Amino acid sequence: MKIIKSIEYLKRIIRESKRNGLIINFIPTMGALHLGHMKLIQKAKRKNSIRIVSIFINPSQFGPNEDFKNYPRTTHNDLNLLRNEDVDIVFLPIENEILKYKTNYKCPNFKIEKILCGKSRPNYFPGVKNIVIKLFDIVQADNSFFGEKDYQQLVVIKKMRDELNFGTNIIPIKTVRNKNGLPLSSRNKYLKNNEIEIANKINKICKYIIPKVKNKLNTTKILADAKRELRMNGIDKIDYLTILTDNLEKRKFLKSKSRIFIAANIGSTRLIDNFPI
Ligand code: PAF
Repeated sequence: MKIIKSIEYLKRIIRESKRNGLIINFIPTMGALHLGHMKLIQKAKRKNSIRIVSIFINPSQFGPNEDFKNYPRTTHNDLNLLRNEDVDIVFLPIENEILKYKTNYKCPNFKIEKILCGKSRPNYFPGVKNIVIKLFDIVQADNSFFGEKDYQQLVVIKKMRDELNFGTNIIPIKTVRNKNGLPLSSRNKYLKNNEIEIANKINKICKYIIPKVKNKLNTTKILADAKRELRMNGIDKIDYLTILTDNLEKRKFLKSKSRIFIAANIGSTRLIDNFPI
């Protein structure tokens, strides 16, 4: 496994790999790797290809009062996991170099960045786009892998890929959950034992309402009841609980594929999840 910090060196290795007919599969991460990341990395293992995993905690996607300083930094452990998984290249960019790296791409802001997480975390999507543009430009991947847990991020990145004509396929990978249905997330490390029990309820309550939602166009009451149930179970800081189509549009017709989207704080930890209906 090669560990590469230099952008120019990485580009050279990628050019050589392409010349040798290899497909480039890319998995961008912020480290603190868990089984959810490992599933993305395993799904990226394909014939005649190399896997490149980037680890970079991108300061620009955190708000001023968010957890950038405390975000788990576990590079040593991450590298061991990636070595065991036989990843070809780990890209560990130097903060100064990647933040200064200029591309000719400029991405417009999309309406879907202003809803759900974008409403309470206005820096988040501009920050994600800013770094993913640079990474896409550097890596020039054939396939890029993103988890469905960050579903809104996945849709924003797909839109950005289309808008800027990046030649990478965006491959979505299903959320990995613990045995109680809590999606794996680097931020779960912040949860105390009693908070994990509370967090597990989110999955149960959202799953419970899926069959109800399936048959009803007007879901206002179902969602209001679910919010009450969440509050009764200790989840009182709900940022949003809503239903949108898979393209993040308002759900007008029962036929459109839709999802329940939720974000809530348990103590000081923000959790997000989504459930296909
Ligand atoms: O999902 C993440 O880990 C990050 O938002 C990403 C895509 C690596 C950009 O920093």
